[in-house]
Amino acid sequence: MSSSKPIRYSSVGETLEVPVINQLMAIPLEKPEVLSLAAGFTDNAALPVDLVTDIVAKLPETNPNNEFLQYGTTQGRPVLRKLTCDVLNNESSRSAPSFDPQNTYISNGSQQALFLATHTLCDPGDIVLVESPTYFVYLSMLQGLQVQPVGIPARDDGSMDHEGFRSVLSKLKEDGQLGRIKLAYLIGYYANPSSRCIGLEEKIGFAEVLGEFDIQIPVIEDGAYRNLFYETPNPTPSIMELDAFDPFPKLYLGTYTKPFATGMKIGYACCSESEWTSKMLCAKGNQDFGTANFTQAIIEQVMLQDRHKPLLNTLSRHYHAKAKLLHETLEASGLRNHGWHWDMPEGGLLLWMRAPEHVNTNMDGDFCEKCTDRGLSMFPATSVLPTNTQPILFA
Ligand SMILES: Cc1ncc(COP(=O)(O)O)c(C=O)c1O
Repeated sequence: MSSSKPIRYSSVGETLEVPVINQLMAIPLEKPEVLSLAAGFTDNAALPVDLVTDIVAKLPETNPNNEFLQYGTTQGRPVLRKLTCDVLNNESSRSAPSFDPQNTYISNGSQQALFLATHTLCDPGDIVLVESPTYFVYLSMLQGLQVQPVGIPARDDGSMDHEGFRSVLSKLKEDGQLGRIKLAYLIGYYANPSSRCIGLEEKIGFAEVLGEFDIQIPVIEDGAYRNLFYETPNPTPSIMELDAFDPFPKLYLGTYTKPFATGMKIGYACCSESEWTSKMLCAKGNQDFGTANFTQAIIEQVMLQDRHKPLLNTLSRHYHAKAKLLHETLEASGLRNHGWHWDMPEGGLLLWMRAPEHVNTNMDGDFCEKCTDRGLSMFPATSVLPTNTQPILFA
């Protein structure tokens, strides 16, 4: 036990609590016997060990001067940024490129970019618009930054309720709070936790409602699971490619963790604005002045050698089979007859279940306790108010 005087923390440090994600991520590492459906881990069996081993063995040949073991730049490797944008632009329905390597940076997972984006825009007391439900780690980040999430209401099928959204904005206007909205955060593809994709009209409708209130805040689209579609890619263009979002500053986040290897912790952020990009890079420079050059160099070679696509096909098949097995096991269990709802996901790593109203799915409830007793870890997603959704659980 330390006998030193208590530390005097900053106002931010004072409010920081250990995020639940830290505990959830420790479970599969410390207790491999537990079936962990809680923390979005990829499957060890599907990690590209041979591919990475091969690429690493040849790095001294492919990257003369050993620069891959040297510091890189804060923005990240130019070739990797270009290759990343090329893929996104090639898949785009727009003829003009929407993703610019100059306004793109490589981050420590897309999580870091999400932090930098929010950190450069939001002061304590500001508001961020989020889907309902949304990525719980982002909610915890907002709490740490003392920023208030406001939920975009959802219909029973999980889609955005634009009418409800109008009411939310009207109420904020009435309360003189519209100016406090600094940012909107959307997860367009196979979302965490809902596993749903935002449809084209739904996305455009969202931009239109903001327009009705003369709100032109930056919009982030998180595409962490976009490449992990099971059969066909979701056809809805990202916000970077849609005319309806032209008036808004935009940031598209992607990653090479889930759709390559989570342990590489390489993500990327493509921005529509050079000024916002430099602000995020200044903040990143203060944090780490660059993401690990070594892991970037590995992914760069994977992309240069056109070896990512075949891996993506393998991963998609793998996770499709797992999702099917989970779905079929749940169907066979008869849970639906007891009021549970879920849809078979069309991509991603998550299956989201809604519990009947009488089941308390909170972490301190009976249900969670029983899951833990039986060697299963899961996480209850809570909707951000205002909302019209029922208690929910995702696995
Ligand atoms: C929706 C979403 N965004 C971003 C992340 C962060 O991913 P990474 O930092 O590994 O790129 C996650 C991780 O689970 C996620 O679920």
